[in-house]
Amino acid sequence: MGLPRVLSGVQPTGALHLGNWLGAIRNWVDLQKDHDTFFCVVDLHAITVPHDPDRLARDTLSTAALYLACGLDPERSTVFVQSQVVAHSELCWLLNCVTPLNWLERMIQFKEKAVKQGDNVSVGLLDYPVLMAADILLYDADLVPVGEDQKQHLELARDIAQQRINARFGNAETSVLKVPKPLILKEGARVMSLTDGRSKMSKSDPNEGSRITLLDPPELIAKKIKRAKTDPERGLEFDNADRPETDNLLGLYAILSGKGRDAVARECSEMGWGQFKPLLAEATIAALEPIQERYRLLMDDRAQLEMVLQQGRQRASSVADSTVRRTREAMGFLGAS
Ligand code: AMP
Ligand code: TRP
Repeated sequence: MGLPRVLSGVQPTGALHLGNWLGAIRNWVDLQKDHDTFFCVVDLHAITVPHDPDRLARDTLSTAALYLACGLDPERSTVFVQSQVVAHSELCWLLNCVTPLNWLERMIQFKEKAVKQGDNVSVGLLDYPVLMAADILLYDADLVPVGEDQKQHLELARDIAQQRINARFGNAETSVLKVPKPLILKEGARVMSLTDGRSKMSKSDPNEGSRITLLDPPELIAKKIKRAKTDPERGLEFDNADRPETDNLLGLYAILSGKGRDAVARECSEMGWGQFKPLLAEATIAALEPIQERYRLLMDDRAQLEMVLQQGRQRASSVADSTVRRTREAMGFLGAS
């Protein structure tokens, strides 16, 4: 038996932030050691809301560079761009035709995003979770590391594979598609906004002060942390439901300083914000510095970066094409000779 297979991806919409890193990419780096890992930049998902064609390619490349800068190693992981592996679109169509509309209409993320789009909601936005299911199922993924907000989409992918494909088109001995499991890491699984401890840090928040991106220069990081929302109490603590900002900032400090929760809970139990915020800023800047340095080197060698993606595309395509073939066959299509 080979190593368990892992697949995940992030959209190339706007700069990746601490939530993406701590809730997603950081875990991917660890998984490379003992899993067969596939990581893609999900650019097809990025066009489910209105997008800027002048930015799509640039953001896709820069997101891929950030994956590598965060520690994904092309020798160990297959790193690729979703739209460059055509099987994603094809499996998505096959899955579309067996997925009940009402499963999609009740997706929380769809409802939230649809409200923001007013009367300009695309079919693609509704279909987003089916494309995501295709991403996962194409690679026979055992595990899908994602933030907590993606759990419902994972459930959907499982239901489509199990109830809508395997139950209908498989048989007792062979299932057509592998049923994946979510992998949600607790600590850092949800990084909250700097301006509101009750909503998560997000690329789409119009207020840039609400997030720290992985490419923010040190002065900007310090400024955002200085302005971050706090409360008037002295002494910092975890798990006080009335102090969500405190919990979030202390949690970030625990991870970014590498000290862990117990140590920082002790260190900061009597601290005021004036003392704490510079410590957090310093820890954040130090944690991001090596990523930013590697990112610059990667972006300076465009040919090398494109070669990594080309190699990833080939490796990904060979796995994905065979899953599409299997699914087509199970569904009864005329085979191509
Ligand atoms: P997105 O930015 O929505 O494309 O999300 C990309 C990945 O980062 C997904 O696995 C999300 O679950 C994760 N993620 C996004 N925002 C956060 C956050 N604030 N905290 C933790 N994880 C996040
Ligand atoms: N929907 C995911 C998010 O917003 C991104 C994504 C697309 C994804 N396809 C995926 C995540 C496949 C994991 C596996 O974060």
